[in-house]
Parts: sequence; structure tokens; C-alpha cells
Amino acid sequence: MNDLQSATAETQTDQDFLPINGTDYVEFFVGNAKQAAYFYKQALGFEIAAYRGLETGATDVVSYLLTQDKIRFVFTSALRSDSEEGKRVGKHVMAHGDGIRDIALWVDDAEKSFNETMARGATAVAEPRRIEDEHGAVVTASIATYGDTIHTFVERSDYRGVFLPGFEAVSDSGPPTVPIGLKYVDHCVGNVALGDMNKYVAFYADVLGFRQLVSFDDKDISTEYTALMSKVMSNGNERIKFPINEPAKGRKRSQIDEYLEFYGGAGVQHVALATDDILHTVSEMQSRGIDFLTVPTTYYEELEERVGKIDEPIDQLQRLGILVDRDDEGYLLQIFTKPVQDRPTVFYEVIQRRGARSFGKGNFKALFEAIEREQARRGTL
Ligand code: FE2
Repeated sequence: MNDLQSATAETQTDQDFLPINGTDYVEFFVGNAKQAAYFYKQALGFEIAAYRGLETGATDVVSYLLTQDKIRFVFTSALRSDSEEGKRVGKHVMAHGDGIRDIALWVDDAEKSFNETMARGATAVAEPRRIEDEHGAVVTASIATYGDTIHTFVERSDYRGVFLPGFEAVSDSGPPTVPIGLKYVDHCVGNVALGDMNKYVAFYADVLGFRQLVSFDDKDISTEYTALMSKVMSNGNERIKFPINEPAKGRKRSQIDEYLEFYGGAGVQHVALATDDILHTVSEMQSRGIDFLTVPTTYYEELEERVGKIDEPIDQLQRLGILVDRDDEGYLLQIFTKPVQDRPTVFYEVIQRRGARSFGKGNFKALFEAIEREQARRGTL
């Protein structure tokens, strides 16, 4: 933790029963963690930083830690099906495909975070436990959120190791990692079933002490065919932002319905990763084979009129398919990948904030029409 962050965290302790320093890690349960690690390294510029598996004494599951600047992604697969831990991972993959199991939150006191949220109605997934190795100790505790997704509180102030006890640093003998400028997790979006959005809005408000930043209804987010509703929940310092989507009735099946069907229920829809240079980040991703949603060229003809003057050349934004939106505080640039696994479920957003703290409402219509074109190709519209 740097000094600025620790000072902010301390001043907020008085009024905030759940001070959070940031996203600690995002853990994916996947069918083949070894291959996922290779993809995130080669296509997204993550470094394979740590590993736990048979060679380090793990017997049931294998995990790779991939890092880029402040982002930590963990990819976990089952090593066997006849152990409790192996079954837990295997069943998740069977039910959901490759997906996000855990959005872990970095706190100064994991036990207190667990007790405070439990007292406010959280469902326990793992009681507080202290795990030690030669690098120190970490305390973790987990609570449930939507679907099979969980939040693990991670307290690591007494830990000097590479990630968590059990993980060992990796000396990667493969080709060198070339980062693409991804810096931190900006927000993580959840899709929940029709009628459940307000339940989870209340969960984040009542149990975690979050507040609602914005709300979008089907008038904001609708096209000829589909509609959705969304509310954005945030913790006190706004380092954690969780938009929650639910489908709204449209003429055809919405992208949220498609997700819920293929994911097998509620789960994380997309993770937005921040960059300081979206032109560079996106051109790297495209040259490495990542597919993005595209909007019609008319989008760029109307762009300057809609958002005013921006620093980035519009022809370069158009060439890469990057979208722009403006709010009272500034503007933002964003782009969305297509799903990154065979199921039309999890995808990524790359976002560069130039003052704007919002989520790109002005792009929703163009985006959803782009998603519908993809749904039509999949026969799921
Ligand atoms: Fe987003």
C-alpha cells in the first residue's frame, strides 16, 4: 500500500464500517488454467507471477497468478475430482464454463470485515483464517454475493510474499511478457435474474455499506429489441464499483438473458480494466488477436458534435473502434471485447477516464445494437 492510500483508508475508518483499499484479486475458475495463463500473458500482456500446483505441494487445485500493474488475476483449475476442493472448482466450471468465482477485496482487517458484514446479513462462505508461510501471514474470510460468486476479504499487512501463502514466484522460461498498459480494475459488472437487481442493490447497501452512484432504466438502455436495467453500487472511496444489471422486457431476448442462460444463472458479466493510453492498449490487443465489438461508421461522423473536443484523433479512434462519452466532469474512452470464451458470457471493457467518472451511457444504444448483431449471428436474439 502506498502512503496516500493508507492515509485515505485510515481517515475513512471512522464513518465506514467496511473500509476497502481496492480490488485485491479476481479469481477465475477455468477448465485449463495453464492455457488460460498463456492467453492472458500473450494476448493481454499479463506476467505469470506466481503458481501453486503439484510442484509446490498443492494436491487438489492448481492456480496461476497473473499481474499487470495493480491488476491481479488468478486462474484456478481442479487437479482431481475426488477431493472437496477439486469438486468445488470442477462443479463451478461444469455449471458456468470459465467464469469469475471471486472478486476479492483488500482490507486492513479481514476478521472485522467478515464480522461486520455477517452482523448485517451476509452469508458466510469461509470463516476468517490466518494462513502463514516463511513470508508472513495473511488473513482471509469470504462471503457470498450473486449466483456462485463470492467476495473474499484479504488482509495482507503482515505479508511480504509474492501473493498468498502456498503460491511460489515463477521464473517464466517462455517468451518475455510485453505489457499493454492495463493498470487497475475500474469496475466489475454483475448480471442477475429479472427482479433481482434491487435485492443485490440492497445487499451492497445494507451488508457492505455501499451507496448507489447511478441508475439506468429501460428508457436509457433500450434498442428496438432489448432492454436492461442497471444500478451502480460503490464503496465509500469509490475504488470499488459494482454495476448490477437485470434484463427488462424487450421484443426479443436481451444480452442479459443470453448471459444468464449460458452462464447458468447470475455472475460477473464484464471486468473493466483501466489504461492511460487506450490507443496503444487496444491496438496491442487487436494485433494479438482479441476481437472487439464494432459500431457503424456513422458513430464517428456524429462523435465530435456529441462529445465536443477531445485530445485523441477521431480517425485513430475509428480505426480501432474506440467509443467516447462525456459527462459533467470530463470524458471517457471505452471499448468492449467479444466474449473471451466459447460461452457468450464474460467479456472485458478497456476504459480510459479523462475526468469522467460515469460509465458511458451515451454509448449504450450503439453498443447494444452491436451486441445484438453478435447475438443474431449466434441465433440467440
Ligand atoms: Fe462497464
